[in-house]
Amino acid sequence: MQRKVTKAIFPVAGLGTRFLPATKSIPKEIMTLVDRPLIQYAIDEARAAGIKEFIFVTSRGKGALEDYFDHAHELENTLRKSGKDDLLELLRHTNMESGAIAYIRQHKAMGLGHAVWCARRLIGDEPFAVVLTDDVIAGDPPCLQQMIEAHHETGGSMVATMEVPMEKTRSYGVLDIAEDMGAIVRARGMVEKPKENPPSNLAVIGRYILAPTVMENLNKLKQGAGGEIQLTDAIADEIEEGRPVFGLRFRGQRYDCGSKAGFLQATVAFGLARDDLKDEFAEYLHDVIAMRKAAE
Ligand code: UTP
Repeated sequence: MQRKVTKAIFPVAGLGTRFLPATKSIPKEIMTLVDRPLIQYAIDEARAAGIKEFIFVTSRGKGALEDYFDHAHELENTLRKSGKDDLLELLRHTNMESGAIAYIRQHKAMGLGHAVWCARRLIGDEPFAVVLTDDVIAGDPPCLQQMIEAHHETGGSMVATMEVPMEKTRSYGVLDIAEDMGAIVRARGMVEKPKENPPSNLAVIGRYILAPTVMENLNKLKQGAGGEIQLTDAIADEIEEGRPVFGLRFRGQRYDCGSKAGFLQATVAFGLARDDLKDEFAEYLHDVIAMRKAAE
């Protein structure tokens, strides 16, 4: 019987340089996809998967992110007085139960592995999830829930994976596959951004369920590393030490909202998925494309 996964780490301490100058003063995670900040999509997905404790690894200049989860009493009172119950209901989703959120500081952006390691004392001896807010995933059920259900069967550690064209593997962590069971694969190894000879085209994306021993591996990497501390290396060490690591080919569409092109694609997809926007928006897109074609 697997121990229930109830804690998730959200590493949000990166510099977000690909979105400068916007990220000079706004955390990337507060940037909005239609009308909700990226962080809200991540929180909703984690809640749906049964996560109860939300651990944010933050850094300097991320104050807006912490404020986002505070109750906006004045605003709520004004909306209540004017009978705007639908908006009040929307705001209710942004309120978190007291004590459900913890903020840990990563003092220097030393990599994703280091950011996760910063939360070690809050994790203790339990399996935990890691959610990268840059990766927005439209999935039903949501990706993390699919993973928690699969992990319940497999145990060990699990990463979300998707097939990418071979030439794109150099931008991802890539799985070396020991056994392919369809939706689930068992990994023999994991390589971060392979420059040549990728072991497969199964890329790792920003959802993880990790055994607590991954924290111990990060601890060792922390001692030895000079540059960035990679989460991939700590997961690969699990395999080296004989503990199982699986990949789940999740059902859904992932958008890389850490890149400008990905963010724009997500904006179009999420806009078109909204009942209140889709007709007007689809017509507009149609016209834009027709005008482009006419100009060619
Ligand atoms: P990225 O590789 O996307 O880096 O981090 P970034 O700094 O956010 O963005 P760019 O590349 O400069 O535009 C992936 C995830 O890991 C977190 C980021 O916040 C993001 O969620 N991260 C990365 C940390 O929390 N700390 C780090 O030291 C590095």
